[in-house]
Amino acid sequence: MSSRGADQAAQWFAEQYDDAPEGVWHAPGRANLIGEHTDYNDGFVLPFALDRGTFAAAGPHEDGVLELTSRQEPGGAGGTRTVTIALDSLAPGSVRGWAAYPAGVVWSLRQAGYPVPGARMAVESDLPQGAGLSSSAALECAVALALTQLAGFDVVRQELAAIARRAENDFVGVPTGIMDQSAALLCQSGHALLLDCRSGEADSVPLDPALSGLALAIIDTRARHALTESGYGARHIECEEAARALGVRTLREVPGTDSLAALADPVLRRRARHVITENQRVLEAAALLRRGRVAGIGPLLNQSHASLRDDFEISWPEADVAVDAATAAGALGARMMGGGFGGSVIALLPEDGRAVREAVCAAYRDRDWPEPGFLDAPPSSSARRVL
Ligand code: GLA
Repeated sequence: MSSRGADQAAQWFAEQYDDAPEGVWHAPGRANLIGEHTDYNDGFVLPFALDRGTFAAAGPHEDGVLELTSRQEPGGAGGTRTVTIALDSLAPGSVRGWAAYPAGVVWSLRQAGYPVPGARMAVESDLPQGAGLSSSAALECAVALALTQLAGFDVVRQELAAIARRAENDFVGVPTGIMDQSAALLCQSGHALLLDCRSGEADSVPLDPALSGLALAIIDTRARHALTESGYGARHIECEEAARALGVRTLREVPGTDSLAALADPVLRRRARHVITENQRVLEAAALLRRGRVAGIGPLLNQSHASLRDDFEISWPEADVAVDAATAAGALGARMMGGGFGGSVIALLPEDGRAVREAVCAAYRDRDWPEPGFLDAPPSSSARRVL
């Protein structure tokens, strides 16, 4: 995490409100090593925090008013646009655009019995938006931590993750699972987070690829997605239908792929097969990492991608090309990451990943696609106060 981001957020706050902030809070974006579309099926995920994220500089305001500004939004950098929200009038659907995320956090905190007072905030982010790195969860979690700490509420992080998720599900109206907020609030540096989304049990698993001469990289395919518009919700519904047809509450309850013969609909069978096999891959990956066998997870990443592409059908051409080019050029494994239909690929590379980068860029050039972006992805720390 750059201390520059914290300073910039503080400076942005001072310029907007003519006052110094009381503090600056940071929440990271996340990568997901493996375990895609398993969280809302009560399954397992294995995300880790990135060294980039969202900074929220915050200070008190007159009671009942939230005033917000973001450097990344239109009218933001160089402009003076702030959004002012009366907290008593907050209701799902009452705020639109980026401000719905922080406003939703206030609403959700109040619903949970934490009557946070008014606040001023200036938001700064060094995460590419729409790249599938959970910029929205980072925003929610930075705001949630800032508001609760400003008000002196000591909220357990698991509870704060659930509150932030509720803001996204019920206030913004996007039916996501608990992975992104949990990653932003619970991950440890040098570790991935093995989260059982049914029990809430969270275990840190060592993830230090450099010890094995390897590196994790994010390839931003430049294809953009928005969970509100994508087929994300449709997949969620299909999984519920598959569970219902199998007579279980969630797909987590299905013991193995043998049970899927009972599903008449071939589409639902494929969707369920992805979820069941992906849960198994997460547990295998965590077991390998616990034994320090980082290279061993490469084939699991490739299998995950094939399953997301063929069974869950949420991959996109730029991701498939990046995965194929990366693995052909020496990546140990690669897969699409996040909600699907756009965003990023995660790849496990030899420490000098130059050959892979060049191969992916060449494959994009051949197709006249915009050059992909590359981000190092060292497993980093979760949200905290930084100034
Ligand atoms: C998005 C959601 C998560 C999760 C992933 C897919 O990132 O926010 O809850 O469902 O997609 O694994």
